[in-house]
Amino acid sequence: MTAEPLIETRDLVKTYPVGGGDLIALDRVSLRVAAGEFAGIVGPSGSGKTTFLNIVGSLDTPTRGSARVLGERVETLGHRRAAALRNRHIGFIFQTFNLLPVYTVFENVEFPLLLLGLPAAERRRRVMAALERVGLADRARSRPDQLSGGQSQRVAISRAVVKDPALVLADEPTANLDAANSHQVLHTMVRLNRELGTTFLFSTHDEKVIGYLRRRITLVDGAVAADEVVTPTHGENGEAAP
Ligand SMILES: Nc1ncnc2c1ncn2[C@@H]1O[C@H](COP(=O)(O)OP(=O)(O)O)[C@@H](O)[C@H]1O
Ligand SMILES: [Mg+2]
Repeated sequence: MTAEPLIETRDLVKTYPVGGGDLIALDRVSLRVAAGEFAGIVGPSGSGKTTFLNIVGSLDTPTRGSARVLGERVETLGHRRAAALRNRHIGFIFQTFNLLPVYTVFENVEFPLLLLGLPAAERRRRVMAALERVGLADRARSRPDQLSGGQSQRVAISRAVVKDPALVLADEPTANLDAANSHQVLHTMVRLNRELGTTFLFSTHDEKVIGYLRRRITLVDGAVAADEVVTPTHGENGEAAP
């Protein structure tokens, strides 16, 4: 009687040919993530986190195994349908923010809506609402180089949620932020998860991020070493959990 998971991978394997052999980046990863989760893939550099997120986000394909994301089998989608799945339903947040430097904050957040072909008035309404959600409506006309790292990442969060996606994938979102900005960015994501019901899947090896997670999936050498429900030690207001 359980609803279909948002993400379900079965024996996901990704190998890269390296020096005559195969490097195993993902080793039979079988995971389910349900709608509304706030979960993290945790593990040291090289453990396969980005590879996993890229396959789930239909940016990459597995060598073997299957990944069903929002009802689609990503390994069989092909470029056009993969792009449609991403454009409509998946928001991405990267450690380097990936804002387009020559465009304003408004235009950066608007970009996913252009891909969806929404009319200008609707785009404007949604962009301003998404910037309000991250507290940056007053910076709509700024360029990315006029923002701090934390503000840049909040713009990237705003861009990720502006189309109201079911799923946001965040690859080491605090890797380039200091502690204060990391906490602010995480509070924003916790609040969006609660207010919008958006599912968040992170990759991280940052202890600050780990303190916010409700589920911690540990990858070691591309394999799931642990998958635990955890009580967040940090919440929306930075308070310790009771
Ligand atoms: N395009 C590639 N070609 C060869 N090896 C790769 C490629 N992408 C990733 N890898 C290797 O796969 C493993 C997992 O990488 P990655 O998913 O980026 O790990 P993480 O994000 O946890 O740091 C690493 O050993 C990495 O060097
Ligand atoms: Mg990575």
